[in-house]
Amino acid sequence: MVLELRELCLFVTFEGPDGSGKTTQAQLLYEYLQECGYPVFLTREPGGTGIGDQIREVLHSLENTEMLPQAEILLYSASRAQLVGQIIRPHLAMGEIVLCDRYADSTLAYQGYGHGLDLQVLRVITSFATGGLKPDLTIYLDIEVEEGLKRKLSAYQAGEAEWNRMDQQEIVFHRRVRQGYLQMVAAEPERWVVIEAAQPIDVAQRVIRAEVEAKLRPERAQEGECER
Ligand code: TYD
Repeated sequence: MVLELRELCLFVTFEGPDGSGKTTQAQLLYEYLQECGYPVFLTREPGGTGIGDQIREVLHSLENTEMLPQAEILLYSASRAQLVGQIIRPHLAMGEIVLCDRYADSTLAYQGYGHGLDLQVLRVITSFATGGLKPDLTIYLDIEVEEGLKRKLSAYQAGEAEWNRMDQQEIVFHRRVRQGYLQMVAAEPERWVVIEAAQPIDVAQRVIRAEVEAKLRPERAQEGECER
């Protein structure tokens, strides 16, 4: 039986420390939702647009060691403003599910908790950049900082990931980022789902699918696999 879908218009973001496997999980979820027949769009931050990709290069270049945290937040926000206006809002307006690999919570975690910039100021800048667009659901992949960086480094050495200016930050910075995420989860538990990133990829993916399906069709949340 093909079920009637209500207007989907669901905005799901993926967050987590470096090396937590967000990108893999976002890609697997994207493929699954597509197979199920849902209209779904996958994007990422920073980047996701032509302009955003140019900003990403500036942000992540290992040569830009002199970049100030204030410049960093404005560049991440510029990339985000472009992505929200050019891509995310139009796709949501077409009734699609939008998946985004990192979003505004990364700014609070990295520039706020990590660099120590004023969280209230960051919220104002973020609200200006996004026009107030917030995720319906945020999947947080949690991992010990050392383990995450180790994974990211091996992925880089295998040519599967970039090693960027943010990865290069000292370990205490990454610890503050993780603590920041955990505080944000605790402050707004109804929006966040915490996934233990150390568990096998397929096990984590099953939990993520169930959470997303519960948002899409609350009445079928217990049944697992979609039928479309
Ligand atoms: P990326 O290579 O996409 O790594 P990951 O797979 O971990 O997402 O790098 C994104 C980096 O940018 C990551 O270290 C987090 C950082 N970042 C911020 O510091 N602030 C932000 O607002 C965003 C979106 C990302």
